[in-house]
Amino acid sequence: MADLNATRNPFVPGFGVPPSEMVGRSDLMRDLREGLESGPRDERYTSVLLGTRGSGKTATLNAVEENAQKAGWLVMSVDASTGGLPDRIIQAVAWARDHHEGAEIADPDAGHRGGGYSVRLPMGFGWGASQPAPARPDWDMRHHLAGLASHAAASGSGVLLTVDEIHAGNREEIRRLASDLQHITKRDQMPLAFLAAGLSVLEYTLLSDMRMTFFQRCARFAMPPLTLAEAVGGLRRTVRLGGGQIDDDALLAAAEATGPLPYKLQLVGHHAWTVSAAPDEPINLSDCRLAATLAAEDFKQKIAIPAWDDLCRSDQEYLKIVVSLGDAATRHGIASLASAEASALSRSERRLRALGYVGLSDDGTVSMTGILTPDVVQEAIDTEAGYTIGATGHPRCNAEMPRAKATCVLRAGHTGRHRSK
Ligand SMILES: Nc1ncnc2c1ncn2[C@@H]1O[C@H](COP(=O)(O)OP(=O)(O)O)[C@@H](O)[C@H]1O
Ligand SMILES: [Mg+2]
Repeated sequence: MADLNATRNPFVPGFGVPPSEMVGRSDLMRDLREGLESGPRDERYTSVLLGTRGSGKTATLNAVEENAQKAGWLVMSVDASTGGLPDRIIQAVAWARDHHEGAEIADPDAGHRGGGYSVRLPMGFGWGASQPAPARPDWDMRHHLAGLASHAAASGSGVLLTVDEIHAGNREEIRRLASDLQHITKRDQMPLAFLAAGLSVLEYTLLSDMRMTFFQRCARFAMPPLTLAEAVGGLRRTVRLGGGQIDDDALLAAAEATGPLPYKLQLVGHHAWTVSAAPDEPINLSDCRLAATLAAEDFKQKIAIPAWDDLCRSDQEYLKIVVSLGDAATRHGIASLASAEASALSRSERRLRALGYVGLSDDGTVSMTGILTPDVVQEAIDTEAGYTIGATGHPRCNAEMPRAKATCVLRAGHTGRHRSK
């Protein structure tokens, strides 16, 4: 009988799916491990991971959780994207009290991580030997967490609480959690470690909220972009792991198509594996070229278009101008075309840079990164132009005309040059 595992695609493009092979995260993992080992005085004992969708935040949380459990920590994981965070944390603590070492639960009563919690009790936690003091019905989240942390301290261990999608959390609930952690971990130095993950825009929301002292005292880690060498190594090892082979020139082409995000690596690899009929056939250059095109289309649908739709109108306008200016998008050039004021433009630039959608080069030009690509913005411009009715009663072209500081007044789809009047 054929071994099904041998033919299974080792690449797993998705969200929250653990990769077969973690690529390019060893420095980050070391920092986080050292933080946990050093204890509450270390800033990294409470850390926040910041990155775009697909940069591997959830995969990193999962890997840290697994290592922590192996090292004897009690690990509780929750997702902030649905309300009721304090209740879920209390339920997770209650579950931990009722179970014994080595037990593990994922997403009780809920089909997805968002609605539930997961708890991993390590071997040797000493739970059975000395039960923690019983919880009282009037206890709030702080009491529950402090009770668990003091039990962990007594048994020479620690509790790790992870919160995913923290940018999507209810602000009031996050504020309560921050204040509890400030007391338990920062003030009382109890062994309750914290690791959260969210979109980079957090830097300008939660993390700059001066009322949440706790977050000012957390270490912040931007998810590092994959280098070309890391992509080459990661693709090669994953192909081998699946029992396949890849030609050298094909490997380089696949790595070049990967770019900074692990999610894209999984997409490119997945398509290359499928189109080449691996592992029976080696993956060659033309397989990888096709895979790059297919992956780019998937990436556009799953990351770039939702990212565009999530932006506020003023940030969309800013990007439209950047795209219309092409290589010449200086701040001055952008300002000369925009209807918004300088302060609004600088806020848009800051938000878009925090999200990783634009970068500022040394010569002062604003350029788009490979995440939200110019063609997505151009398509939005074209679609909107189709809905804009000009004086003639026909859709207008509306192409940006930077030098004339205007948009084209001709009918959409006209031939010849654009005209501003
Ligand atoms: N370090 C990594 N190396 C290889 N693949 C990864 C890595 N991190 C994440 N992935 C893969 O990328 C995809 C997105 O990861 P995920 O952790 O869900 O991203 P995020 O939470 O930042 O949106 C998943 O398919 C996952 O398996
Ligand atoms: Mg995630």
